[in-house]
Amino acid sequence: MIKADINRFKNKIFTAPAQLFLRYLKDNCVDLALIDPAYGIDYCGQLKKKLGGQKLSITKYHWNNYGAQDQTWDRERTSPDLIKEVIRVSKNQIIWGGNYFSDILKPTQCLLIWNKKQRGFSLADGEVAWTSYDKALRIFDYSRSEYKADEPNKIHPTQKPVKLFEWCLDKAKLKPGAIVLDCFCGSGTTAVACYNKGFNYICLDQDPVMIDKARNRLWNIQRQVRLITPEELVVQQSFIGGFNG
Ligand SMILES: C[S@@+](CC[C@H](N)C(=O)[O-])C[C@H]1O[C@@H](n2cnc3c(N)ncnc32)[C@H](O)[C@@H]1O
Repeated sequence: MIKADINRFKNKIFTAPAQLFLRYLKDNCVDLALIDPAYGIDYCGQLKKKLGGQKLSITKYHWNNYGAQDQTWDRERTSPDLIKEVIRVSKNQIIWGGNYFSDILKPTQCLLIWNKKQRGFSLADGEVAWTSYDKALRIFDYSRSEYKADEPNKIHPTQKPVKLFEWCLDKAKLKPGAIVLDCFCGSGTTAVACYNKGFNYICLDQDPVMIDKARNRLWNIQRQVRLITPEELVVQQSFIGGFNG
C-alpha cells in the first residue's frame, strides 16, 4: 500500500475512523502519539444510570447536551489491533486509560498520573496514562475545581484538561518541529495543548460533530491571540523591556 506524506496532515483536525487513517501512515512517522481512546466502560450509559430520575442533572450533564453524534463509542474498548497501529506509526506514546490495555502494553516504569486531589468520593481519585518512556513515574496535581475554573465550558463528556496535556508534552521533551498525533481527539485538547506549546498536531476523531466543535475551540483560541493589535504588542514589549531594564 502506498503510504502518505505525513506533512500533508500537519496541524489539521479532521473526521476519520482511526483504523482507516493509520493504515496509510509509515512506521514511526510521528514523534509522539498522545491519545485517550475508548476504555470500554460505557461512560454515556453509566452517566444515564447515575443520573436517572434526577431530571435537572440529566438536563445539565446529558451526553446529548455535548452534541456528540455517537453515544456508543465507549461501550467497547478500542481494539488491541488499533492500539498496536498507533504504536507502529509513532516513536513514543502516552496512552490515557492505559490501565484498560495492560494486556497488550509492555511493562513500563513511566506511568503518568493525574491526581485529582480528592479522596474517597464515588468518582476516581485520579487517572493513569501508560507511556513508552524509560523515565520515572510522574504525578500531576490538578483538582476538579481547578479544572472547572480554568475550563468552565466543556464540550466533550470525557474531555481532558489542557493543562494536563501540556504537562504531558513537557514530560515528552519533544524537539522543536515535533509532530504529535491524537487519533481519538474528541474536543481537540491535544491540538490546543500543541498549539499553546508550539508543536505540530494531527488530530482526528470519528465523530464529525465533535470535530466541528474541536475546530471551533482551537479557532477561538487562535483568534484571541490574533486579536492583539500591533499597537498593543508594542505596548506589551516596551513594558517587558522596562520591567527587565
Ligand atoms: C475519551 S474520548 C477523547 C477525549 C479527548 N481526549 C478530549 O480531551 O476531548 C475518545 C474519543 O475517541 C473517539 N473514537 C472512538 N473510537 C474511534 C475510532 N475508531 N476512530 C476515531 N475516533 C474514535 C470517540 O468519538 C471519542 O470522542
